[in-house]
Amino acid sequence: MKDCAAIVLGAGKGLGRTICRKLNGRFKCLILAGRSRENLEVTLSELQRQDADPNLEFVISQVDLTDHDSIATFVESLKDLAIPIRALINTAAGFYRGKFYDQSFESIDRLVSANYTGPVLLTSKLLQAGLRSELIDIIHVTNVNSSTTLDSSSSSSMHTSSKAALNIFSRIVGRELIGDGVRLTILAPGTFARDGRKGVSEESLAHIVEFLLTLPDDAWIEAIEVRPRG
Ligand SMILES: NC(=O)c1ccc[n+]([C@@H]2O[C@H](COP(=O)([O-])OP(=O)(O)OC[C@H]3O[C@@H](n4cnc5c(N)ncnc54)[C@H](OP(=O)(O)O)[C@@H]3O)[C@@H](O)[C@H]2O)c1
Repeated sequence: MKDCAAIVLGAGKGLGRTICRKLNGRFKCLILAGRSRENLEVTLSELQRQDADPNLEFVISQVDLTDHDSIATFVESLKDLAIPIRALINTAAGFYRGKFYDQSFESIDRLVSANYTGPVLLTSKLLQAGLRSELIDIIHVTNVNSSTTLDSSSSSSMHTSSKAALNIFSRIVGRELIGDGVRLTILAPGTFARDGRKGVSEESLAHIVEFLLTLPDDAWIEAIEVRPRG
């Protein structure tokens, strides 16, 4: 991994930022991708404070998953990198709490694009762009797809259903891609321990991401559902 790059999408905050901290120093180059440049810059300065190794490279790439041109421009920009890209870790997501019929059409469309259509287009563009021979791991973070999630998601229907769509897409496409040497894994956590809430810590999830990236060549984990202990 030391000679390769990894893309962390959604690197500007939350789990994406925690994963960047965990992977800092594991790759020659981390590509910090996401919507808000300001947030990505905060992540960048944290990483630079964490490890001052001058040989490590960090690249900030703004990409908006709701914008097709932005996705295409992002993938084009990756072709200029001199190092092979080994992994895409997608933690980006939009969220809306409330009844779906209170959301504007535009808001519904943006949520579905950020959580489902955008990641699908990005994955497809990356594979078409001649980067396939270098890509080994694609990890999409979704959420647990259980009846428990359905019960607790009555006021986040568009978020939960768009993530469920990404989950099913990833399961089907994962089986297609394995023949091409690409492992697509779904990481499906329950609620995070955050803001005093009980759940799985972001550090534990980042640890699982790191583990997935160190699997032996002949192994593939299709999906992981992570639940808190107690
Ligand atoms: N939080 C939970 O309890 C929980 C539970 C299960 C699963 N998950 C999943 O875990 C992942 C991380 O969750 P989190 O709570 O850490 O998320 P978060 O703090 O809300 O961060 C989401 C990131 O996604 C980026 N993003 C949103 N819309 C985007 C778009 N259109 N294009 C590009 N980037 C976009 C945001 O960019 P900006 O920096 O511009 O805002 C932000 O950096 C998500 O996929 C979420 O669905 C979360």
